[in-house]
Amino acid sequence: MNNVHVINHPLVQHKLTIMRDKNTGTKAFRELAYELSQLIGYEAMRKLKTELIEIETPVVKTLSPVIAGRKLALIPILRAGLAMSDAIADFIPTAKIGHIGMYRDPETHMPVEYYCKTPTDIESRDVFVLDPMLATGGSAIATIDLLKKKGATNIKFVCIISAPEGIKKLQDAHPDVEIYTASIDEKLDDHQYIVPGLGDAGDRIFGTK
Ligand code: PRP
Ligand code: URA
Repeated sequence: MNNVHVINHPLVQHKLTIMRDKNTGTKAFRELAYELSQLIGYEAMRKLKTELIEIETPVVKTLSPVIAGRKLALIPILRAGLAMSDAIADFIPTAKIGHIGMYRDPETHMPVEYYCKTPTDIESRDVFVLDPMLATGGSAIATIDLLKKKGATNIKFVCIISAPEGIKKLQDAHPDVEIYTASIDEKLDDHQYIVPGLGDAGDRIFGTK
């Protein structure tokens, strides 16, 4: 699993435990999703290239690093991914944000696309696909298929919780895509929910159940 990065930091694991707890309410859940997205997103951006620019501090002129090269695109998968794009855009305000609407059919668990709007220059951007849950992998794969058709080449997938089944499927379909996650859980249940998981991420973020 060379291109899977599990963020094992104690702070991440602590916050994830509170998110998983069924007694955590909507407000706290949303705040935790925000905080975890920033912490995981920070790791996902570790390999961004930097270049030196000259600045002047109050003391002296100096060369100091800034992020260089390709610009970024954040692509949340609606709707749960919105919690992640809000969080990451707050620390990278220059990133463009595209939206992919995708829901799992409750019977077949297959992804159904209902919306797509991405930056026009996506082929020249480093793309971060955001969704808190990687379960069967269907939604992630369909989203990345679509982005590649639009010309995206440099794509990372950032989630909070993943299932081994989804990781394998995503790696088989898109071996070039690095995956960042706070946890690889045990398995999927008969309804294709992640075990132990945290339930339905969208419902818990938006309070719809
Ligand atoms: C959830 C989640 C992912 C998808 C993961 O979305 O946010 O997009 O399921 O499952 P998969 O890996 O098996 O495709 P959901 O379909 O519940 O839509 P929602 O965000 O609108 O609630
Ligand atoms: N989608 C979710 O929100 N949770 C799961 O466990 C699986 C898919």
